Amino acid sequence: MYKTFLFIHLISLIVAYGTIVFVDFYGFFWALGKRTNEQVMQVSSPAQILIWSGLTGLVVSGIVLGPNLSRPLTQLKMVLVVIIFINGINLHFVQKALKQNKGVSFQKLNKKLLFWSVASLTLSQLAWLGAIIAGFIITNS
Ligand code: HEM
Repeated sequence: MYKTFLFIHLISLIVAYGTIVFVDFYGFFWALGKRTNEQVMQVSSPAQILIWSGLTGLVVSGIVLGPNLSRPLTQLKMVLVVIIFINGINLHFVQKALKQNKGVSFQKLNKKLLFWSVASLTLSQLAWLGAIIAGFIITNS
């Protein structure tokens, strides 16, 4: 049973993080001037469904797997998961603000919004990669 839930955990990870990598990569094309803001929004809006579904799958399967919360690395992973959730809500507002800047190129975006977007996406990648690496180390030690 443990292996089945670990499998569900990993499938959920593929769905959530795979979608994030694709959306961030697509957004990078906007920064390069090869895609418009609208095109990125058309992709990132439906992507939210996959990301939040994957996250839900990770939490539910993770609870069933039963993490050993006395381990410092597991505690760190849980902090990263909380950061992922809070930053996910923050990214929802970033997306809303970007939607109000339709037709504006990445370079012409106002500095505050530019910083807010890049900082939120960087934090998202760091927290996801940190949780993935922590999970991998915990399982293999
Ligand atoms: C962003 C969220 C998460 C990511 C990226 C993530 C990632 C991972 C990874 C990569 C593994 C190792 C799989 C393997 O090597 O076969 C793992 C295992 C595991 N995860 Fe997660 N996970 C997340 C959320 C959670 C949550 C919320 C819980 C618990 C509530 C959890 C509990 C576990 C448990 C119990 C294991 C088995 C290893 C252990 O005993 O800690 N995970 N996770």
